[in-house]
Amino acid sequence: MPSTDAPVVLELSEVVKSFGAVVALRSASLRLQAGSIHALIGENGAGKSTLVKIVAGLYRRDAGEFRLDGEDVDFTSTAQSKAAGVAVIYQEPTLFPDLSVTENIFMGRQLTGRFGRIDRKAMRHEVERLFTRLGVVIDPDRPAEGLSIADQQVIEIAKAVSLDAKVLIMDEPTAALSGVEAERLFAIARSLRDEGRGLIFISHRFDEVFALCDTVTVMRDGSYIATTPIAETTPGELVRQMVGREVTELFPKQETVVGEPLLEVEGLTSPGVFHDISFTVRAGEIVGLAGLVGAGRSEVARAVFGVDQYREGTVTLKGRRIRRGRPTEAMRAGLALVPEDRRKQGLVIDSGVGRNITMAIRRELSRFGLITTGLENRAARVWASRLEVKSYALDTVAATLSGGNQQKVVLAKWLATKPDVLIVDEPTRGIDVGTKSEVHRLLSELAGQGMGILMISSELPEVLGMADRVLVMREGRITAEIDRADATSENVMFAATHASEQHS
Ligand SMILES: Nc1ncnc2c1ncn2[C@@H]1O[C@H](COP(=O)(O)OP(=O)(O)OP(=O)(O)O)[C@@H](O)[C@H]1O
Ligand SMILES: [Mg+2]
Repeated sequence: MPSTDAPVVLELSEVVKSFGAVVALRSASLRLQAGSIHALIGENGAGKSTLVKIVAGLYRRDAGEFRLDGEDVDFTSTAQSKAAGVAVIYQEPTLFPDLSVTENIFMGRQLTGRFGRIDRKAMRHEVERLFTRLGVVIDPDRPAEGLSIADQQVIEIAKAVSLDAKVLIMDEPTAALSGVEAERLFAIARSLRDEGRGLIFISHRFDEVFALCDTVTVMRDGSYIATTPIAETTPGELVRQMVGREVTELFPKQETVVGEPLLEVEGLTSPGVFHDISFTVRAGEIVGLAGLVGAGRSEVARAVFGVDQYREGTVTLKGRRIRRGRPTEAMRAGLALVPEDRRKQGLVIDSGVGRNITMAIRRELSRFGLITTGLENRAARVWASRLEVKSYALDTVAATLSGGNQQKVVLAKWLATKPDVLIVDEPTRGIDVGTKSEVHRLLSELAGQGMGILMISSELPEVLGMADRVLVMREGRITAEIDRADATSENVMFAATHASEQHS
């Protein structure tokens, strides 16, 4: 907990930023104290990432004040921001894959010994020292290629520490991390705070915000709403500040009548990835697929849909065999997959919102090979409004949407195909609390209309709240199948972590 008189390292006051006609920031303010972890939260599109990008020197503000250590600053490049002691760790770091870990950390500022020769030994030694201090084990000589996202983030942090950054900003850093990896990141964040640095932490997960942060600032529609010590607020209060209204039930699951089997998976095996996976998804049913990150859940989903191969087993949809490795065939047969990494796998970044949403139903919309804009827009508008991708014109280029709104567009695209069976991988990752319940309501409603849904989720409350039946995977195998009535966080977690103890 920072003392109230700790120096303010970063101060933003009434910052304004527009992109053409879009006002991203109306009046954003933030005061970051040394030795504190400050949460920045708000709905998708509230302006969090834009504010961060101004601090990082990627964008320049139109108006307002921006001070670092009491000095007025106006960065015109990321290099200036770095030199001034600011480090930003993004959800997906951008290391140079061919360079070693050490080379990445010393990118652009190699240590030189006498006669100006590059001193590799000194650099390597410094990296080892940094890793020990951060409590992580990564080989300094290995290439960055193939490192987990969590390790890549740690390398970015090590780089920040070696540059002695006084402000560290993490924009949704945990979105792609497993629980253990997130815990390691939090431990590092706490130790950096205790050294007197200021940290900003952006997340849509309240459990993380409450576990990690000292102070929280809420933004809404590009404006500052409130700053509160974390000990003096509650999730309910923060949600009210974020959305400006009362948000009711988070998981409004409808009771449904479960019908005939739609998707039948038998003995699916891909050596080293998953083994002997069998399950059924029936009409009207939401089947949750729980487990730790890395348990093989996404891999099973991709294999079932046909984007990945498998060696043994069968996939049947409404009694019809789906051949392996044929996603188009699977789609025509009535299967859809909303991938985990929607930005990379599901979005045409330089196309408009409307075009992205109707992407997968263009055949259906076309009359004699022609699609009228009116028809396309009408179809797109229905889904855009259901998912609250609001206030965007349908021709807004997807690249300029906030992260969470991009997620919603891809979700809309697959829902528009009205599949018989929908596989959703982390359906609400990166999506704010207000829309989260909307996504849940929608999934529940679709199941009510007879769709079969396989929902992969790492969030236990989501699984327990939404699923009629929970399958748990651990190390590539299904270790438990638990009915809704019997599912608890304890038994799901137990199956996710302990069930195959007899093998080890
Ligand atoms: N380069 C850009 N061009 C046009 N509009 C932009 C650009 N960058 C951001 N915006 C708009 O600014 C607003 C704020 O976006 P921002 O990415 O800051 O939101 P966010 O709070 O980070 O949301 P999320 O939680 O979804 O990540 C959005 O309406 C977004 O579409
Ligand atoms: Mg963002």
